[in-house]
Amino acid sequence: MRYSPQFLDEIRARLSVSDVVGRSVKLQRRGREFVGLSPFNPEKTPSFTVNDQKGFYHCFSSGNHGDIFGFLMETQGLSFTETVERLAADAGLDLPKADPQEAQRAKEYQGLHEIMELAAKYFEARLQATGGAGARGYLSDRGISDRALQTFRIGYAPPGRHELKNYLADQGVSADDMAKVGLVISGDDIPVSYDRFRDRVMFPIADLRGRVVGFGGRALQEDVPAKYLNSPETPLFHKGALLYNGKTARQTAHDKGTVVVVEGYMDVVAMALAGYHNVVAPLGTALTEDQLRLLWRMADEPILCFDGDRAGIKAAYRAIDLALPRLEPGKSMRFAALPEGQDPDDLIRDEGPGAIEAVLQRADALIDILWRREVSDQNLNIPERRAAFEDRLRNIVREISDPGVRRHYGHAIADRLSKLWGQETGRAQGKQNYGARGGRGQYSKRQIRQPSMLRGNALLAGAGSRIAHREAAILMALANHPELIEMFLEEIARLDLANQRLDSLRAGLLDIASQFDILDRDIVFKELENRRFGELLNDLKKIVEHARTGFALSSASIAGAEAGLRQAIFLHNKTLTLHKELLEAERALAEEDSEESLDRLRDIQAQLQNVESVEMLSDEPQDVV
Ligand code: UTP
Ligand code: MN
Repeated sequence: MRYSPQFLDEIRARLSVSDVVGRSVKLQRRGREFVGLSPFNPEKTPSFTVNDQKGFYHCFSSGNHGDIFGFLMETQGLSFTETVERLAADAGLDLPKADPQEAQRAKEYQGLHEIMELAAKYFEARLQATGGAGARGYLSDRGISDRALQTFRIGYAPPGRHELKNYLADQGVSADDMAKVGLVISGDDIPVSYDRFRDRVMFPIADLRGRVVGFGGRALQEDVPAKYLNSPETPLFHKGALLYNGKTARQTAHDKGTVVVVEGYMDVVAMALAGYHNVVAPLGTALTEDQLRLLWRMADEPILCFDGDRAGIKAAYRAIDLALPRLEPGKSMRFAALPEGQDPDDLIRDEGPGAIEAVLQRADALIDILWRREVSDQNLNIPERRAAFEDRLRNIVREISDPGVRRHYGHAIADRLSKLWGQETGRAQGKQNYGARGGRGQYSKRQIRQPSMLRGNALLAGAGSRIAHREAAILMALANHPELIEMFLEEIARLDLANQRLDSLRAGLLDIASQFDILDRDIVFKELENRRFGELLNDLKKIVEHARTGFALSSASIAGAEAGLRQAIFLHNKTLTLHKELLEAERALAEEDSEESLDRLRDIQAQLQNVESVEMLSDEPQDVV
């Protein structure tokens, strides 16, 4: 029986090492640890230590080291299972019930995979048999070598209605199982089930481990209703989570540093014939989130090959919308446009492998395609339209949840906009003054001399809510990624939060961190709820979700959370310092009206503006452009 890590952790959480060890070894407390005589070696001076915080014992004389499970196994000669059973009883926990269903499921899947493999072999054999002559001719006309037939395990489904079905039945496969894997079509209204794939060239579709899980079948004639027929969704076959040729592509993508996405099975095969093995295709549907994630595991910037016609461009745009919210530092996508009306297969056949190489070389960055999409067909000759255009761009940038990527998109779009406006306005150049790119000399002397408390309520309200939002984000990032609490312990201890409730939440987090050695999100949330922070947490969650503060969300990667948190804390401290300095400078100016004091005040205000604009860039891209 395998026990889940959660169950083992639960036992560890309930039993201290010193309790378990203390039953057989006499322990004495020394500081944070316990010491005693080694149970492994005879000795006079104690060299055996136990650390409850770390959950480990260590024996200096023997080098033996481990947790409570290891200790019982070592000293009592128990098996791991016996150890778990005994300690679970000590901890007052019931053993989890063995899950017979899961074992059954694993076995069953193996059975289903075997059926798919039988079918794949069957189709391969039928292609090479006499009846496969027509299909062989079709494939060779399309330039597919015997070698490629083998590599891709291309086969042929004969035209009869019960060919595969009879074959599988002879192999002892039940009718139910054949239907379950989608090889026969059956149903209440179908008296006799029959082969799904008939008279088609068969492309087996494998998972990342190379196990056949589905098929795509191409009709030989052009006038057949479905050019390609794919396996239906089955327990093995999930269209949206698979990529054709995924296994091979993953292996080669690593060496090549990239992976190419084409539209069809035939394109993958043609690319392989041209020497490209790092190529995949989705299974006849638009790219899904799961597939994008697979692609990013293969390479940082997968290249999407799309047809230069309208449909292809639309597909590329859809892929952009899929990718934007999911972009992470380093992870992007590139787009290679094929000549209109040609897929890679056509291009390679017509112009040779060099042509596809050229297309891939010219691949555009995501930002370029995005920009092109947004500016094309735009008439931006009046201010209102320009403003609307900027609004739309802001909304697009806001789609990006990673704060770093979002910030840089904000910059890139702002750059392009200012170039565009330069072109659009042409002669009306003069000084540009639309951004919040503040700086020295932006305030009149009169404005500056008003005490900051009175200057523009809106500004204060804005800054205030931004501070509150930042505080919320910092705390949520910590609660969602408790590993960071340890890492930022000192910063958290010094954190000066304006909001009282948030400050006590901060103290709560520190308290929990001091009580638990191993922190995870569940523990932290449970403990915070015990401390009556449940409602506050819910509010904070809403704030960060609403503001799409990526790094503070539970979905953030740990690296993203860490980077975002570091920046947020830095900005927070910087803002507070500057606010204090600002007050002092104002006081000084009130006392003595000198150019020097005024300069100092201006300088601080400029710095504050700077910090605020960095912050707006990182969590409120709407202020960027
Ligand atoms: P295409 O129509 O571009 O076909 O469909 P293709 O790959 O160029 O194939 P050939 O060259 O005509 O043989 C691209 C992909 O869309 C899915 C298949 O996965 C195909 O490879 N598709 C297409 C279907 O699932 N069903 C169809 O009827 C057509
Ligand atoms: Mn084609």
